[in-house]
Amino acid sequence: MSDRKKRKGKTDIRETARREVRALTKEELYKASATKYRSRGLHGMNLAVVLCATLAAAIIAASVLCILKIDRPQRTRRTDIEQSFTADSNAEEERAKEKLAFTYITKSAADVHSGYLILVNFENEYVPEAASEITDIYSGKTSSYSVAYNNYKLDSFVLERFNEFMDDLSGVTGDTCVLVNSSYRSVEEQTVLAKEYRNLYGDEYVEKYVATPGYSEHHTGMALDLTTRYSDGSTVPMRDYANLETLNKIGVDHGFVTRYPENKYSYTKINTEPWHYRYVGVPHATVMTENNLCLEEYVTYLKDYTADGEIMLTSEDGTLEKVSASELTGNTGYAVYYVSAVDESGALAAQTKIPIPESCESYEISGNNSDGFIVTVKLKEAVS
Ligand code: DAL
Ligand code: ZN
Repeated sequence: MSDRKKRKGKTDIRETARREVRALTKEELYKASATKYRSRGLHGMNLAVVLCATLAAAIIAASVLCILKIDRPQRTRRTDIEQSFTADSNAEEERAKEKLAFTYITKSAADVHSGYLILVNFENEYVPEAASEITDIYSGKTSSYSVAYNNYKLDSFVLERFNEFMDDLSGVTGDTCVLVNSSYRSVEEQTVLAKEYRNLYGDEYVEKYVATPGYSEHHTGMALDLTTRYSDGSTVPMRDYANLETLNKIGVDHGFVTRYPENKYSYTKINTEPWHYRYVGVPHATVMTENNLCLEEYVTYLKDYTADGEIMLTSEDGTLEKVSASELTGNTGYAVYYVSAVDESGALAAQTKIPIPESCESYEISGNNSDGFIVTVKLKEAVS
């Protein structure tokens, strides 16, 4: 090969290298240079350059190591903070969700004494100021049952529920023999009745079957005594009624319970009364019956359930689950919980804020007639 051709070859190599170098990054540039120096062999000036580069690289590497050493714990700390920040914001988000899930209804101290779950018994007097609308049964009844006197009265909402109860019973059994033998009674009427029964049956009977005037749930308009009267004029007491079991079952479905069942005297202080029914509403009648709880036991039991603790989740068949507020989402049926109305001093608070889940179909708030409220929430049906 001629000298010219050799020079031309070298020029071409340098030119190619220059073009490549322009296209490379700084780091690649360093590698590219080193490669080119290696390919040419380590001679003279080149060796010095390589030594300098090596020294510079060593200094840079030491510095980087040093920085990494210092930086590592800092990065770990930053990661910890990042994690704890994420955990905090998740918890806050959860709390916000729970907070957001409720809206608040304000109730007064007087409201503790009204509603379909008030307990009126030997130690909880009925508070007349809380009376709901009372209406004549006769003018509002259906033809599925009869009423002993035309002036008998019931709470107007309870009368509607009772009509449905009787219509269903009649539809299933064909019976129209149920007779309302007593319903709403004023304190004066209860006083007259107690006196009459004392004269007829004596003190012991009155003690066991007649509530002290002022302490009878007949004052509420939510209780009624049933018997039967057939078309031939004959009567059969409730305990002997052929379709009693069916009646009780249908009654429970409509929110009515036998208020003084067997073996509950220690709670109610009233003997078994198979004729006395009380409206407590849905799903409470089912939960009470399925779990063999009289109203005294039930209102105490409900205190285990609160909006910020465990909530009772129940369906119409009376099955019970304990869930937290956040677990209500996606569930159907009823959520039930207690809200205390008592302040730090132990007295009834002038106002109580009742939490209600924002996303629900409907809700009812009832006082318990002593120290708080029972909230019944109908959850939204799942959209399919
Ligand atoms: N017979 C029921 C207990 C009343 O008198 O209220
Ligand atoms: Zn009664």
